[in-house]
Amino acid sequence: MALVIAIAQQKGGAGKTMLAANLAASLATRGRVALLDTDPQRSLARWHAIRARQAGLAAIGFSELSGWRVGGGLDRLQRDFDTLLIDTPPHLDLDAKRVIRAANLILVPVQPSAPDLWAAEGTMTLATAERRRAVLVINRAPTTPKQRERALAVVTASGHTVIPAMLGNRAGFAQAFERGQGVIEAAPRTAAAVEMAALVQLIGEMSQ
Ligand SMILES: Nc1ncnc2c1ncn2[C@@H]1O[C@H](COP(=O)(O)OP(=O)(O)OP(=O)(O)O)[C@@H](O)[C@H]1O
Ligand SMILES: [Mg+2]
Repeated sequence: MALVIAIAQQKGGAGKTMLAANLAASLATRGRVALLDTDPQRSLARWHAIRARQAGLAAIGFSELSGWRVGGGLDRLQRDFDTLLIDTPPHLDLDAKRVIRAANLILVPVQPSAPDLWAAEGTMTLATAERRRAVLVINRAPTTPKQRERALAVVTASGHTVIPAMLGNRAGFAQAFERGQGVIEAAPRTAAAVEMAALVQLIGEMSQ
């Protein structure tokens, strides 16, 4: 059965889709990875379509499902892949509940600011109610060490578990996404790629 990682946060633009795409691109070099897009905006579907036109990139399975289809689709994907990454829309509805119930781990991207932390509460509460492990991932962090220290303190003060590896606010993430790639593929020697590799490593350790 696949390890199921859901990426959820009610706040729009928090980095859910960017994170799903990058985790998939990183993990696809070591196992069978599938993405499930449950967001009608279809950004991840478009990323995957751009990717599929390019030769030489690690293969990633892709499905888009919503409504009652999510349940059945999840069963099949869990059988066929090692890791299943689920991108979700910026609101909590019945689909989101189904996804959270199916997940082994829920990643909640937050910018280190109060509105993002407030918006994360709904997902954290739902995860607790469903007895699922949910962790905050700091995204769009500032890049100087002092500001980072402050960002970590702000997010840690929420009382939720925070992954101790943050992604900076770096143009490389958006540029790789437009190309249908992860940062480890589009720009492997950049700070963005180093940060993503560190995050992937920690998520791997948490999922064991
Ligand atoms: N760390 C980052 N540095 C720079 N740009 C980023 C970063 N993370 C995300 N972005 C950009 O911010 C925008 C929003 O990111 P993304 O689409 O992943 O958010 P989302 O949470 O999926 O939004 P929605 O809720 O609308 O689906 C995108 O243009 C993305 O490329
Ligand atoms: Mg999205």
